[in-house]
Amino acid sequence: MSIQTSTCRLTLPAFKKMKQGKQPIVALTAYDYSFAYLLDQSGVDIILVGDSLGMVIQGHQTTIPVSMEDMLYHTSIVSKGVERALLIMDMPFMSYPGIERALDNATDALQQAGAHMVKLEGGLDQIPIVKALSSHEIPVCAHIGLKPQSIYKAGSYRVQGRSAQAAEKMIEEAAALEKAGADLLLLECVPKILAAEITANTEIPVIGIGAGNACDGQILVLHDLLGITPGKVPKFAKNFMQESPDIQTAIRTYVDDVRSRKFPAEEHSFS
Ligand code: KIV
Repeated sequence: MSIQTSTCRLTLPAFKKMKQGKQPIVALTAYDYSFAYLLDQSGVDIILVGDSLGMVIQGHQTTIPVSMEDMLYHTSIVSKGVERALLIMDMPFMSYPGIERALDNATDALQQAGAHMVKLEGGLDQIPIVKALSSHEIPVCAHIGLKPQSIYKAGSYRVQGRSAQAAEKMIEEAAALEKAGADLLLLECVPKILAAEITANTEIPVIGIGAGNACDGQILVLHDLLGITPGKVPKFAKNFMQESPDIQTAIRTYVDDVRSRKFPAEEHSFS
């Protein structure tokens, strides 16, 4: 099994080069020091402290109850284990309702917790926030497609961008977010053809989850990869423990499978 690691910190220009060189970017979530260290040592390029921690760590039904305090705490303990990967912190629900709060909270993410980038959910409505963060040199990952923080308005977690109109809107959102200064784009639960089109038409790297294997990179929730997520697991997830003797091998297999575009396979994608 080939693992390419280096102790040099991965930077945003490095990710752009990976996109240009068609070298898939490997991302995973982590919520504590030990897993962060293991992921970093296994060659994972991006570690996200996702607000999915509300569900997989705290046992909530949604990500809505997660607070800034929770995110700062988990990001700070994850950051102790990360030497090489880019560390992203999710901005939790209502932590970016306006420019001032977004700037204050993102500053805490970088200064107090040790994140290198923040991720926020939203499309055109978030353009002023993305512009403000970016103009203050705060790297931003914009999360579009299925947005778990919108669950109460959306009603259910389902594939986004299936109609021609919704697909057009998502293409427009991706272009506008890139223009506003987003440095990465995360696409969740999007038909693979649409994800491929967005990936081909943006210069910033596109990381997919349930978005097919044409994206520039892939991310999974760690607990889905380990097969320990309680309850229903999404179609796009794969339990890598089923074919691995231990956790280390499962993570390294995920890294190799994303690098070789073996994962996600057809059965993990939407049409
Ligand atoms: O919170 C999270 O884990 C996410 C996933 C899409 C990776 O945002």
